Amino acid sequence: MLREKIIITGASSGLGEGMAREFAARGRSLGLAARRLDRLDELAGELRSQAKQVAISKLDVTNVESVPVVFDALADELGGLDRVIVNAGLGKGAPIGTGHAAANIETIETNLVGALAQIEAAMSIFRKQNAGHLVLVSSMSAVRGMPKAQAAYSASKAGLSALGQGLQAEMARTPIKVTVLLPGYIETDINRGVKTSMMTDTDTGVKAMVAAIEAERTRAAVPSWPWTPISWGLKFLPDALSSKLI
Ligand SMILES: NC(=O)c1ccc[n+]([C@@H]2O[C@H](COP(=O)([O-])OP(=O)(O)OC[C@H]3O[C@@H](n4cnc5c(N)ncnc54)[C@H](OP(=O)(O)O)[C@@H]3O)[C@@H](O)[C@H]2O)c1
Repeated sequence: MLREKIIITGASSGLGEGMAREFAARGRSLGLAARRLDRLDELAGELRSQAKQVAISKLDVTNVESVPVVFDALADELGGLDRVIVNAGLGKGAPIGTGHAAANIETIETNLVGALAQIEAAMSIFRKQNAGHLVLVSSMSAVRGMPKAQAAYSASKAGLSALGQGLQAEMARTPIKVTVLLPGYIETDINRGVKTSMMTDTDTGVKAMVAAIEAERTRAAVPSWPWTPISWGLKFLPDALSSKLI
């Protein structure tokens, strides 16, 4: 099914910006949100020649009351809403109990509480119209609780995946579809400085995400290679080995 009117959060950089470019190239109508309005403004200026329509809005997803207001306004501007991509997220975090509680709490507030606010806002619109496609950008690190600086991040993404899985069960016999994406390492600001041979370039990663979204996959590790087999391995890895993960 062609989903024309799409909201993407966290569209000011990285994967969100990349997905906005891909959907603009397909002639869709876009509602782009993030905190850095200047970057959204610049991006919208570039995309307007390709996209059918581009609306932008400043949004801090941790300001949970503002999320439905912004989603409703963007949907009004686009003349409807077919798909929401819950993508805004951050990768702050530090080993728990080492004096960086604020970074870990901000991670959960943004990636899980902020995401829930977006899911509430999107589902409220989708339930009213009995149609829509909700896309949750989770992470490979949702598959298993990760140690050290990744602990809160991995918990936030596991929570997000669980929200998606629960909604999939609830919406199974309705026209509302839910996709959970589990990206592996894709080069963006969130992981600058991470040294791994498993890093995918942004363009390849974004194309794999958009393909999984357009296919309305229930759950997809992206890019599929090597991350689908890694996701199985992570799930069944013996506990004794998980301390060596990071
Ligand atoms: N890259 C990877 O390897 C990877 C792997 C797994 C999952 N992911 C997930 O992919 C998503 C996108 O990340 P990315 O890799 O593209 O990183 P990024 O380049 O740092 O982009 C993160 C985006 O989220 C937005 N954001 C952060 N906090 C926000 C807030 N409080 N309110 C609104 N927007 C906020 C940022 O915009 P502003 O700063 O302008 O608000 C930015 O547009 C995240 O959910 C991340 O966890 C990434």
